[in-house]
Amino acid sequence: MCGITGYIGGREAYPIIINGLKRLEYRGYDSAGVMVFDGKEINLSKTKGKVSDLEKITENKNKEGGIGIGHTRWATHGVPNDENSHPHISNSGELVIVHNGIIENYATIKKELISRGYEFKSDTDTEVLINLIEEVKKNEDCKLGKAVQLALKNVVGAYAIAVFDKTNPDELIVARLGSPIAIGVGENNKEFFVASDASPFIEYSKNVIYLEDGELAIIKRNKGIKVRKINTDKEVDTKIQKLELSLDQIEKGGYDHFMIKEIHEQPKAIIDTYRGRILGNEGIIRMSGIDDNISHFTNANRIIIIACGTSWHAGLVGEYLLEELTRIPVEVEYASEFRYRNPIIKPNDVVIAISQSGETADTLAAIKLAKEKGAFVYGICNVVGSSIARETHAGSYTHAGPEIGVASTKAFTTQITVLSLIALKLAEAKNTMAKDDINKYLELMKQIPEQVENLLKIDSEVKEIADVYKNAKNCLFLGRGFNFPVALEGALKLKEISYIHAEGYPAAEMKHGPIALIDENMPVIVIATKRGHYEKVVSNIQEIKARSAKVIAIVTEGDTTIKEIADHIIEIPDTDEIFTPLLTTIPLQLLSYHIAVLLGKNVDQPRNLAKSVTVE
Ligand code: G6P
Repeated sequence: MCGITGYIGGREAYPIIINGLKRLEYRGYDSAGVMVFDGKEINLSKTKGKVSDLEKITENKNKEGGIGIGHTRWATHGVPNDENSHPHISNSGELVIVHNGIIENYATIKKELISRGYEFKSDTDTEVLINLIEEVKKNEDCKLGKAVQLALKNVVGAYAIAVFDKTNPDELIVARLGSPIAIGVGENNKEFFVASDASPFIEYSKNVIYLEDGELAIIKRNKGIKVRKINTDKEVDTKIQKLELSLDQIEKGGYDHFMIKEIHEQPKAIIDTYRGRILGNEGIIRMSGIDDNISHFTNANRIIIIACGTSWHAGLVGEYLLEELTRIPVEVEYASEFRYRNPIIKPNDVVIAISQSGETADTLAAIKLAKEKGAFVYGICNVVGSSIARETHAGSYTHAGPEIGVASTKAFTTQITVLSLIALKLAEAKNTMAKDDINKYLELMKQIPEQVENLLKIDSEVKEIADVYKNAKNCLFLGRGFNFPVALEGALKLKEISYIHAEGYPAAEMKHGPIALIDENMPVIVIATKRGHYEKVVSNIQEIKARSAKVIAIVTEGDTTIKEIADHIIEIPDTDEIFTPLLTTIPLQLLSYHIAVLLGKNVDQPRNLAKSVTVE
């Protein structure tokens, strides 16, 4: 969480930092701040609220200077107010820092610094860190880079930081442990960009260095970058990577919100995800991460899927897919639970970690634990070069493109696409399915993008339904089998962006609790596809109607039975049950989106949430 940006070079730093912060707002948007140095003075502005609020308060201020740092915050220590906003400045007024992460032992360090006469204006761990750096710099009589390095050796926690020193204003120090940092390298080493991901600087530089955990970079104007290991002081040979990201990928492209743009991008995202992996018409699936490690999978006694949030829901669909097609037992775990419960990992267990951002702290920690216990760990990530992509033994990318709306949409459907490909590939390798059947499934998969495209045409129909139920206080989402995880995901989407309380449940479990809540004010969204235990779900709908609730049913096109009993029908195209989550999820995304828009909520930046959760 939190986004940091920085610039050092020949241009004005302020507009680069502000635009960069706007692109990083998905990481947190409780407060924002910027510091620029005009050659004489540090000009620092920060405020509770969004980057647009920050712009307002800087309107009449001096914003000149070719070096600066900025921050957009997701509060961890201290409420989101002006004082707790970053950047933080040291007691001498010379050092300035922005920080993404948590310093766990900040209280002890703070006590020690207070005893040495330091004063603190905020409740943050970050203000403690900048004063620790100041204290080290003073005591050791060293340059900023060394002081940061020594200070970080005393710190427990996670960080991505950028630090500026007024007494040496041609230099920025950045460092990371557990939180990401990308450094954009300008032409001839004349200018440099620092950010939590590469999106803030794509129009300026396609050359990027991703710092690894435990590394510190000294960035000098017109000179270059030196990267060292924080613990050993060893110099690191940095690799410059070429960015493939383009500006239009991270802009709204005529849509009102990123979320609706991303919902509409799903047909393309799904194609991009299976493109090059399904070869010709022979039904061959090529996934180099699996091909190169096939024995791990064919010998697997068990697959454990770890993830958080929406990715965890995709993992649940993966469980149904993998068990059905490969007969390998699968368990799906919240990464945050897995990492703290001394999990049993047996030889031949394979762990699959799923993460859109590739940065989720709990998932990352769970991967490290699984590796320590000897498991082979496979990653499914969207963000290329992300920490999880690098930490896993092998993996497959989803090719969804950048997902900016905080509520995940196209990441979910592309994760399911990758999991479907893996399941089919392993079914082929383990001979659990006839080749003809695999081919039939692959043909059905190739129809999905067009089916999603057609399904998206129901947008206005869904909007009308949204209008009817937008004032509901509670909502229930029910599904069975492959569509039980979709019910969970539908409920999550609604609560995330509209703040309506929603619960997802396996349809049959309704009788064991949620039915007590059902009355005429409770809309119930039921996924009732033709091949998914249809008769049973019809009975569930009858039970709901007998209690006067309103039913919105997601059915297979041509359904006549449910039409008679439900209040609203949304039809999805016919496909095999295993692929229905890729279709049934679309109307649920649209329903949440429209309800949130009708309620006037901030769809792309819902309160208290962040897209990339880099604290545990
Ligand atoms: C946050 C996001 C969710 C996401 C979850 C896991 O809560 O708001 O949309 O599903 O993190 O993130 P990951 O990047 O690991 O998929």
